[in-house]
Order: sequence, then structure tokens, then C-alpha cells
Amino acid sequence: MQHSIQNAIEILKKGGVVAFPTETVYGLGADAKNEAGLKKIFSVKKRPMNHPLIVHIADISELLIWARDIPSAAYTLGSRFWPGPLTLILKKAPFVSDLVTGGQDTVGLRIPNHPIAYELLKAYGTGLAAPSANRFGKLSPTTASAVLEELKGDVDLILDGDQCMVGVESTIVDVTGMNPVILRPGMISELEISKVLQREILGKKKDAPRVSGSCDSHYAPETPVRLVSSVDQINNGCSEKRLAVLTRSSSNILSSNINCVVMPCDPTAYAHNLYKTLRLLDKENYAVIFVEDVPNDSCWDAIRDRLKKAATLK
Ligand code: TXA
Ligand code: MG
Repeated sequence: MQHSIQNAIEILKKGGVVAFPTETVYGLGADAKNEAGLKKIFSVKKRPMNHPLIVHIADISELLIWARDIPSAAYTLGSRFWPGPLTLILKKAPFVSDLVTGGQDTVGLRIPNHPIAYELLKAYGTGLAAPSANRFGKLSPTTASAVLEELKGDVDLILDGDQCMVGVESTIVDVTGMNPVILRPGMISELEISKVLQREILGKKKDAPRVSGSCDSHYAPETPVRLVSSVDQINNGCSEKRLAVLTRSSSNILSSNINCVVMPCDPTAYAHNLYKTLRLLDKENYAVIFVEDVPNDSCWDAIRDRLKKAATLK
């Protein structure tokens, strides 16, 4: 691994891109101060240039480099949840490139919780901009082989760090205003954040800044995904077509054209398996992937959000 980190550093210095594991999903990293590297992220991902990138850092002290006017809420949240699946939106320091911020006055920052990400960030010594290592609008990869499948030869190096523990992208909290706002739900829930800050957290503003994860059709497999409140609905409308069903209860679907996948009842385990399962099913040419709705509590928010987006018609 030492050798790979050294190799990664050489590539990043030259404006290349390196995929690396984090606890949420794999990131496609470039030096956040290197214009060529940043441009390469957009061309590899086929992502619109005005969608901002998250800068990954190794230590909370680096907030002072990348951000200004940092509110105490940022330190309260950072000290509690970092390293971990939380991204803070802060006012950017003047030098931060428009390629990172999408031309906005803010920057997203996070300290990931993965030994390889930590080793890379520590050794490189400056922030790495890293969106999820998928093509724009597709499922985020949670294994190194999924990154290779997604990006093929377009990525200069993939650091393999096994399957991501969390499995869905970080919670994004904008702390630039009077009240913190959750821009993207993640596995750190609104409830946990409001407990730590000892205040109510607002939902997303209508005119929230551009967040590519907030596009309607995002995180989507190629196969159409449909959400259903109960798997019985599927039996009713059943045809000859091959279907996949994601449910949380062992089901009584016995039809030979239906592949029934039983998902965990616990949200942490569900999130861990979600993208990997959808990615596997996507290869099997089902007519539709039906997904049983998940509970309404706040600990399922991130999963509900990703399922809704996967089910949005493209
Ligand atoms: O878990 C994660 O956050 C993963 C891993 C690799 O860290 N990264 C990730 O990056 O999901 P990406 O680019 O796929 O999604 C980051 C989201 C985007 O929707 C982007 O628009 C938003 O963060 N974002 C970044 N900077 C922002 C800013 N200044 N204001 C508002 N949204 C921002
Ligand atoms: Mg993404």
C-alpha cells in the first residue's frame, strides 16, 4: 500500500485523478489546488462544470485554510462527527477555485473515515477534491471493482480499500446562514445533528445552492426502479417479464420470473448493501427493479432520498 500511496501522490501532483475509498462511497480525487486535475474530474465524470466538489482534508485545523468566517457550529459538528460521513458547507477562502465551488461563495469540506483516505490525505498534505467515482447521474461505487466498471481506463489509479462501511454519501450541512440546513441527508441523521447543536435543523431551502445530488434523477441504475408501499402490489400487476424485488420481509413471492432480494431491517446495514445490490441487479437485465418503501423515521432519510431519486424517471 505504501507503494500505491507514493504512486497516487505522483499522479495527483501531475494533475491526474486517483480513485480512493472513503467510509461512504469511493471518491474520484484530484488536487483541489490543481486546475488540470480539477478539470479532469469533470471530464471523467461527464459532470456539468457548475456543480461544486467536496474538498477532503485530514484534520479539522485545515478548515482555516479552506474557509473563512467559520461559525462555532462547524467546530461543534466537526469535533463530534469527524472523521466521518459529514460534509460542512462554509464560506470559502478567497483562493479556492471556481472549479471547486461551481462559482459559489461557499466550499464543502469533509474529513473521511477510512485508513487509506487518511494515509493519502496526510501524505499529500493538501486537500483533495473528490466527487463520488461514478459517471454523472449513476450509482456511486462502493467497491474498487465498481469504480473500475464505472470509469474503466479513464481513472489514473484506483486505491482498493474493500467495501465502503457506510455505503451512501455523506450528510451535507450548510452552516453559512443563521440556521444550519441539511442539503443532502446521509447516515448522520437530522436528529443526531440537532441533538449535538441543541437546536432545530431546517430542511432544504427551495433556492438551495446547486447540489448535483439534488437533481431529480440521480443515483440511478439503468434498469427502471419503482417504489411500492407493499410487495403485494407487485403480485397484482405481475406479467411474464423478469422482475427484481427489494423487500425487508421474507416474502411469499414465489413466481419464477421474480428475483426477491431480502434487504436488512436495520437502516445501517441496509445502506451498507444498497448500491452494491442495485449495481448487481442492474447487470441482470430485469424489466423493473421494484423496491418496497422504507420507514418514515429520520434514520431512514438518506436511504429514502436515494431510493426516490433512483426511482425518478430519466
Ligand atoms: O460521501 C461523500 O460526500 C462522497 C465521498 C467521496 O466523500 N462524495 C460525494 O461527492 O458524494 P459528490 O460530488 O458526488 O456529491 C457532493 C455534493 C454534490 O451534490 C455537490 O453539489 C455538493 O456536494 N456540494 C459541494 N460543494 C458544495 C457547496 N459549496 N454548496 C452546496 N453544495 C455543495
Ligand atoms: Mg455523486
